[in-house]
Amino acid sequence: MAEPTELFDIIHSTRAMRRLKPDPVPDALVAKILQAGQCAPNGGNTQRWRFLVIKDAAIKKAVQVWYKRALDEVVGPRYASSAPPPGATAEGYKRQHSAVEYLTDHFHEAPVWIVPCIESAEKPTRSSGASIYPAVQNMLLAARALGLGATLTTRHLLYEKESEAALGLPPNVHSYAIIPIGYPMGKFGPVGRGPLAEFVYQDRWGQPFKGV
Ligand SMILES: Cc1cc2nc3c(=O)[nH]c(=O)nc-3n(C[C@H](O)[C@H](O)[C@H](O)COP(=O)(O)O)c2cc1C
Repeated sequence: MAEPTELFDIIHSTRAMRRLKPDPVPDALVAKILQAGQCAPNGGNTQRWRFLVIKDAAIKKAVQVWYKRALDEVVGPRYASSAPPPGATAEGYKRQHSAVEYLTDHFHEAPVWIVPCIESAEKPTRSSGASIYPAVQNMLLAARALGLGATLTTRHLLYEKESEAALGLPPNVHSYAIIPIGYPMGKFGPVGRGPLAEFVYQDRWGQPFKGV
């Protein structure tokens, strides 16, 4: 199937793609993804972002250990006891959980990771995040447009110190995500988020916006 090039088709089919083939991704495609990231807005255009591309199997494995531990100790039990989110059926939520477990077990086998970072002496905040997550979303969209699967992950931050040490980050650099990228095993599907009208208000909190 030809890859979509229409922006809205790409937006509507960019989902967390957690089952990835280990086949290598050409550097030229990784560069295209990074270029899309660099086009994103960032506060004051100061560009304190840095993007660490990881292909080294030993580094990925050292981080995966913490990523898995965070699933076993924190996120897994939460999945097991929580209700499906808006727009998801119980069956769909179960499938998501199993994909999350799959990615966790195979995290290090994704051929390439992009780790978006910010160099700053200050602790990460909402403001600093606002200067990196637009780049992350651009990269997810670019990966989708190229037929590559990717997932925005942040779970390693439950073991931030240990994971960032395994990533070899200097002390004044913090990671904001790990994006495993590879050719997807499955197909891209439509994003499911529930009815937009439930999430949008007009003028007063709780008052429906008639435009959706
Ligand atoms: C802030 C943030 C953190 C996330 N962290 C993880 C993660 O650590 N592991 C993971 O498998 N997915 C992670 N996700 C992906 C979400 O679980 C995913 O976007 C959501 O379930 C919707 O899935 P869909 O895009 O396939 O519809 C994260 C997403 C966001 C926005």
